[in-house]
Amino acid sequence: MKKESLQQLLSEMSLREKIGQMIQITGACFDEEAVLTGETGKEQLPEEAVWLAGSVLGMIGADKIRKLQKTYMKRHPHHIPLVFMADVIHGCRTIFPIPLAQACSFHPQLVREAAAAAAAEASSEGIRASFSPMTDVSKDARWGRIMESFGEDPYVNGVMGTAMLEGYQEDRSGKQTQIAGCLKHFAGYGAVSAGREYNDVEISQRTFLEQYLKPFRMAVKAKPAMVMTAFTAADRKPVSADGHLLGDILRGQLGFEGTVISDWGSVGQLEEQRTAENQKEAARLAVTAGVDIDMMSPAYVFWLEKLVQEGTVSMEQIDACAWRILEMKNRLGLFEHPYAGIGKSRILSEESAHTAFELACESCVLLKNQDILPLDKNRKTLWAGPYVNSPELLSRWAIFGRHSDVTVIRDELKKSGADAECLQGCGMLSKEECRMWQVQETPEITQGVRLEDISKIGRGDTVVLVLGEHESQSGEAASRAFLELPVRQMQLFEMAAERTENLITVIITGRPLDLRRITEKSRAVLLAWRPGTMGARAIVSLLYGSKNPSGKLAACMPYCVGQEPVSYWDMTTGHVMSQKEIHNRYRSRYMDIPNEPLYSFGYGLSYTQFEISSPSAWREGERQDGNVSVCCRVKNTGQKAGAEVVQCYVRTLCARIVRPAKELIRFEKVFLEPGGETEVRFSISLEEFMYYDENMQLTNQNTPFEILVGNSSACVQPAGRLIF
Ligand code: NOJ
Repeated sequence: MKKESLQQLLSEMSLREKIGQMIQITGACFDEEAVLTGETGKEQLPEEAVWLAGSVLGMIGADKIRKLQKTYMKRHPHHIPLVFMADVIHGCRTIFPIPLAQACSFHPQLVREAAAAAAAEASSEGIRASFSPMTDVSKDARWGRIMESFGEDPYVNGVMGTAMLEGYQEDRSGKQTQIAGCLKHFAGYGAVSAGREYNDVEISQRTFLEQYLKPFRMAVKAKPAMVMTAFTAADRKPVSADGHLLGDILRGQLGFEGTVISDWGSVGQLEEQRTAENQKEAARLAVTAGVDIDMMSPAYVFWLEKLVQEGTVSMEQIDACAWRILEMKNRLGLFEHPYAGIGKSRILSEESAHTAFELACESCVLLKNQDILPLDKNRKTLWAGPYVNSPELLSRWAIFGRHSDVTVIRDELKKSGADAECLQGCGMLSKEECRMWQVQETPEITQGVRLEDISKIGRGDTVVLVLGEHESQSGEAASRAFLELPVRQMQLFEMAAERTENLITVIITGRPLDLRRITEKSRAVLLAWRPGTMGARAIVSLLYGSKNPSGKLAACMPYCVGQEPVSYWDMTTGHVMSQKEIHNRYRSRYMDIPNEPLYSFGYGLSYTQFEISSPSAWREGERQDGNVSVCCRVKNTGQKAGAEVVQCYVRTLCARIVRPAKELIRFEKVFLEPGGETEVRFSISLEEFMYYDENMQLTNQNTPFEILVGNSSACVQPAGRLIF
């Protein structure tokens, strides 16, 4: 629709219709099968509000959505189409690895492909907007949502968030199979205190602006259709009521032009946070701050009209919000084609499965390998653990994924022709853990260690244990205070470790775990995260070497829970601990554990070896762009083709304020045949060196910076020093 016609439409709409666009309701209003991803309020919505609502969440199904769209448009005074939104977080029906795993691939092009495949499936099923990507910097493994983020690093979150948005929003097929992306949660939610879900956020303004806003600043450039406000408060101001953050920063400084949507109930929640006296005030605060759509709270539905009638909220404010929503629908082509994309793409296509497989292979991180992997297919191997025969390789955020679409490891082993015997070993959770995680108890889940299985393990046998968290142990509302594997599985592990030293452990998880004991007692450990529909094939291919591991940690593996939150970019301290002074207690240290995580950000092994050499950094002259160039050589010195992630870090050597120990500024994944060698070159603009000085002014001047290059945050070489 042309802009003028859209303006004309807006001018003809009644106040109620405009407010209707600003209200999002759940699919449960129409469809018993709709997925509820939050709490529903007690108030019954007036029927008129339901039929004037602008968007619906959590519904899927080509026929259902087509039918509802038709009826709805017929009833609507101006026949405005609905937009169906849902949490398509890591795939729709084909489930890709969780976002945290995707980040570990360090392969943004594959992430983009996966998002495009997810968009095609979603739009085919009637969904035209996804609440993804989430670019909340997450350095606390206790927080269940770390799985939905791209990990601890701001830059990686920015790069991967951009890639995902591009994948969702590009109309690649010309069949309008693209969907609207939603960058979330703006901003700071990843820093909830003590990793406790929905807790407050206490970080300095500098850290907020520099590190937590960085991924949003980067990804907004990909023009997301929506930004979602966080549940949390930034500098104690709830984001859904913060006009400075949503107006001056998000729209002003970051240049966001799309629609701002609240999180589920985050407008109504202002009352609970005791920052609004009642729902009426909550509605006023949120609309004034610039929240266009109220997702699932009673505030806008029941109070916005009154606020306008009283003159507390102006008609211009309502018009501005409604306009942005209409524009979003228009960009999706909904006015001309309200059923666009429906039924246009194949669900669970071979191409999607292929992308899911490749991404799963690239996402797994090989943490340890003492000359045991890859396995020989002819070497008799016992596979045991609750995940050997389980399709639960998805996640709580794979809301439309089906376990029946997942192949299990046992079947992949059969297909591969490997000499493998599969044993169950034990169930996934104890009875108490089932209660804690609200998982339905079955004899299979709570099965204790099967002694008959253990007795099959002979001395020196090669054993692969596939162990991990249950699906319900990560995601929203899944914070944990302990980071160990479930008890039954640890018992199985200990018993197996007593019988053989040739132990290989594969870990399925939605978060970094305390893997001390596992890595100590296993000869090899593969971290497979929650790998999705094609996860089993990826695990088998990696263990038998038809694929070479190349994932690197996007979030460090802590030494133990006591270190959390922990990241490689933690601030520089005084009383610095050094290896030479391990007996000096007056250092910034723990007395009972090391400061370093078990495995640092950026770490990951391969079946081949790489050498990074000749790093150098220099400032281009005035005749060029004036950027900083960084260069190094990478060589595959081993016997197998593989990939290395070259990582470039920067740190300030002296500034008047305390700064991160180092920060990732570029990376590139390089694929090399054995003996292959290449040059990697990065170009970095001076703007990217900016930081907030002691007067809160952005600067990069008169500051000595050091550039470092390496293959993990803990293994870098100096490339040069620069001062601007
Ligand atoms: C609450 C979550 O915080 C948000 O990420 C999600 O998109 C909405 N619920 C909708 O399910």
